[in-house]
Amino acid sequence: MKLKENLVFLGMMGSGKSSIGSLTAKRLELNFIDIDSEIENELGISIKKIFDTKGENYFRKFEEKITLKKLKLNPVVISLGGGAFMNKNIKKEVLKNHLSFWLNWNYKTLLSRIKYSKKRPLAINAKNDELVRLIKKRSNIYSKALYEIKCDNLSKNEIVKKIVDIYETH
Ligand code: S3P
Repeated sequence: MKLKENLVFLGMMGSGKSSIGSLTAKRLELNFIDIDSEIENELGISIKKIFDTKGENYFRKFEEKITLKKLKLNPVVISLGGGAFMNKNIKKEVLKNHLSFWLNWNYKTLLSRIKYSKKRPLAINAKNDELVRLIKKRSNIYSKALYEIKCDNLSKNEIVKKIVDIYETH
């Protein structure tokens, strides 16, 4: 483990980045940073409201700024928003300097988790086939992460254990 490295969780909405990230941080006794929550705290409104009132472009610019800033702290566990890794500056920094984990699930599992979400602007009103296309398109990019964790059929504890084992032997 290099000193400046953080553990970075990425993957689709509904992949458990926040819950698995926070459990991993507890297990490793590291601080946990959830980027979506940081954005909401800093702007004082929900992500949905940011999309509704300021638009997605504004959100993406803010997301880039805050993510690159938080990545400078180390070592911490960071959960990115589902779209953050699509940003080339974030992707470059994560791949160059950090340990990245893609939480990969079968698309049907992801669909069932995000379909009725009222908090996720990109999922609200989206049709199933649009979400499936988004999952497939993004999976090509998520797959650049240093580690892919195939989460189907694993319990949360088993997923965390896999990650901790990788971290400890890295
Ligand atoms: C987004 C995912 C969300 C949040 C925003 C956009 C996306 O985070 O950042 O709604 O583009 O996939 P989660 O992946 O934590 O739901």
